[in-house]
Amino acid sequence: MLKLAVDGGPKVFETPAPIAEWPPIYPETGKKLLDVYNSRRWSFYGPEETLFNREFAEFTGADTSIMMANGTVTLEMAMQALDIGSGDEVIVPAHTWLATGEAVVYRGAVPVIVDIDPETLCIDPAKIEEAITPKTKAIIPVHLFGSFADMEAIMAIAEKYQLKVIEDCAHSPGGFWRGKHVGTIGDVGSFSFQQSKCLASGEGGACITNNEDIAETLGRLSHIGYQFGAKQGQKCTPPPLGLICHNYRVTDFQAVILRDQLKHLREDSLLRERNAEYLRKKLDAIPGIRVQARSKDATLQSYYVFAIMVDHNRLKPGITRTEVIAALNAEGVMVEAGWGFPMYRQILWTVPEEKYRISSNAVAEDIVINQLMQMSLSWLMMPESELDKIAEAFEKVMGHYYSEEK
Ligand SMILES: Cc1ncc(COP(=O)(O)O)c(C=O)c1O
Repeated sequence: MLKLAVDGGPKVFETPAPIAEWPPIYPETGKKLLDVYNSRRWSFYGPEETLFNREFAEFTGADTSIMMANGTVTLEMAMQALDIGSGDEVIVPAHTWLATGEAVVYRGAVPVIVDIDPETLCIDPAKIEEAITPKTKAIIPVHLFGSFADMEAIMAIAEKYQLKVIEDCAHSPGGFWRGKHVGTIGDVGSFSFQQSKCLASGEGGACITNNEDIAETLGRLSHIGYQFGAKQGQKCTPPPLGLICHNYRVTDFQAVILRDQLKHLREDSLLRERNAEYLRKKLDAIPGIRVQARSKDATLQSYYVFAIMVDHNRLKPGITRTEVIAALNAEGVMVEAGWGFPMYRQILWTVPEEKYRISSNAVAEDIVINQLMQMSLSWLMMPESELDKIAEAFEKVMGHYYSEEK
């Protein structure tokens, strides 16, 4: 057996892996950015924002898209538009970025944490009903990393208990579930366009919806009360009394970047999905390693992150996920532990215990803290010969660290 690179042996990737530079840069976008700059029309439903909203709605099949400042306020505004606030409870998955839960807290509502499914890592629908109380108003399923939440089961529960559903699609622009773009199944779909995302404009986000009234409210909420599409200074009907509105606008600079990226989204998603499946076959064959399950109902699975679990109960004495990650890194494969902890234990989570409730979390506690390793989407955009080397590195490391005995 070849010596591990971490122990001074040869590296699998002798030269750095040719991972995709992300976010992508298209020369034509630079020119358009300059045009926006020269136009002096930078904000307030400028032409580019208006077009992106139209094109994103068309791409996702939603009636309306409303761009906003980021993928946290999109969640917050979706809840406000659905009249969720103080005294209400909202069900969220135990593992997600903390914004999903904190947005609930911004509304003065209580996030109720429900465990994740061990295969898809998305909220486990079998554990939702036991978390429901008379105060429950909504469920926020997150389509996490490279899988989708089980929307069939979630929509059935929502219907049974008359709950709203906000899909957190921060990771999944380009993803289609049973032929529908994610975010169009529940009441509102919430997207993030932050720097690292599949569509990335530095900062940014959007809500999509098929409900005209919700769209109208979301437009007003994020544009300090202006009617959706109304330009600065343009006469429009005032917002209803009591609708407390915000300035969560974006600029045309972001919209220009996103419009060009959107043209490539389908092709990029197909490439990432094909490569993820290629890599999955290879990694799932290695003892002690498994890949996050693709949603069984995915038409096209979007990948923001490629997530791999190591069976920490089958590692040699003294070896944990930390050593596995260090060994893979030494071979030239940049896996990381990601956020490291379930949402309510992440270092930036500051919500006091009395302001949220844990209904179930055993699976998340084990998987997220002991098993989860992740690679960014850039790793899924390389030729198969490079993916082979990733698999080779995993095989080499697990060859040293895996133990037949439990
Ligand atoms: C699942 C999830 N939801 C929401 C967000 C919030 O998005 P933003 O960073 O644009 O506020 C993120 C950001 O990473 C996320 O991963």
